[in-house]
Amino acid sequence: MTSEWQRLQTKLPEWVEQSRHEYIHGKVAAYIPELSKAPADALGMVVMNGAGETVVAGDTEVHFTMQSISKVFTLILALMDNGEDVVFSKVGMEPTGDRFNSMLKLELVEPGIPFNPLINAGAIAVSSLIRGNSPEERFARVLQFFRLLTHNDTLEYDQDVYDSESATGHLNRSLAYFLMEKGILRGHVEDVLDVYFRHCAVKLNCTDLARMGLILAYNGRDPVTGIPLIPRRYVQIAKTFMTTCGMYDASGEFAIQVGLPAKSGVSGSIMTMVPGRYGIGLVGPSLNRMGNSTAGVHLLETMSRDLDWSLF
Ligand code: DON
Repeated sequence: MTSEWQRLQTKLPEWVEQSRHEYIHGKVAAYIPELSKAPADALGMVVMNGAGETVVAGDTEVHFTMQSISKVFTLILALMDNGEDVVFSKVGMEPTGDRFNSMLKLELVEPGIPFNPLINAGAIAVSSLIRGNSPEERFARVLQFFRLLTHNDTLEYDQDVYDSESATGHLNRSLAYFLMEKGILRGHVEDVLDVYFRHCAVKLNCTDLARMGLILAYNGRDPVTGIPLIPRRYVQIAKTFMTTCGMYDASGEFAIQVGLPAKSGVSGSIMTMVPGRYGIGLVGPSLNRMGNSTAGVHLLETMSRDLDWSLF
C-alpha cells in the first residue's frame, strides 16, 4: 500500500469535516424544483484506486442525480457512435466564459454552433447524436453505457427529477428550438430534450461516480477488469473538455487551485480523477454562484495541495 493511500485513509474523514461547513457560502439549486430537497450540509467523497479499493468519508449514502456530469459520457458515446468529424460539426471545442445555460454566444459567433459539449446547448446537440431509432432507444443506450462504466446494473433515472426538469426547463427548450432552427439538431425538439432530461436525471452515488472517473483516469480501460471500454482518444477529448470547461466559469480558477480534470453538476456532485491513479466522486449539494459545490471545491483544494495532485 502506498503512503499516499494511507494518508488518504487517515486524513479524508478529517478533511471532509473541515470542508463541510463551507456549505453556508452557497445554496442548493432550486431552478429544478425537485433538486431543492437535497440536504444542504451533506458532504461525502469516495476515492477509488486501480484495484477497485476505496477510501470513503462523510455522507456517501446520499444519492443524487448526475446532471451535467452525464454530459461527459454522452459526449463519449456520441463520439463512439459518430466519430470526431460528425460530433465537431455540431459543437465546438472552446470555453464560453458564460453561464452553462446561456444563449448569449449562440448567435454572436460564427459558425453558429454551441461553443462546447459541456454547456447545455452543446450537450443538447450531443444528445441528438446518440444512435437509436427512438428517444427510448437512445436513452436505453445511454443508460446501458453508464451501467457498464459503473458496474451497477440497477442504475436508473429519477422520475421525480426528470418530471421536475421537464416541466420547468423552458430555457433548455428555447435553446433546443434555436438549435433546430439552425439545423444543428436532428429529429424533434421534445424527443431530443427527453433524452437530455433523462440522462441528467440518472441517479447514483459517490462510489458509482468514482468508478466512472477511474475509467477516465486509466484512459478508458477498466483497471479492475482489464476490459477496454472507451477508446483512449475519446477519453483524451473528454478530459480536455473537463479541464477547460468542466467547472464552467470557474474552470480557470479550479485548474489553478486543484489542477485536475473535473466535471460538476447542479446536484452538487463533482467527478474528478488523478490520472493513472484514482477516480473520485463527491457530493455536497450547496452550490457557489458558479454552480459548483462550495464544500466539494474546498475539499478538493485541500486534497490537491496536501497530496501535490496538480497536473500543472
Ligand atoms: O440542463 C440543466 O440545467 C441541468 N439538467 C444540468 C445543468 C448542470 O448540471 C450545470 N452544472 N453545474
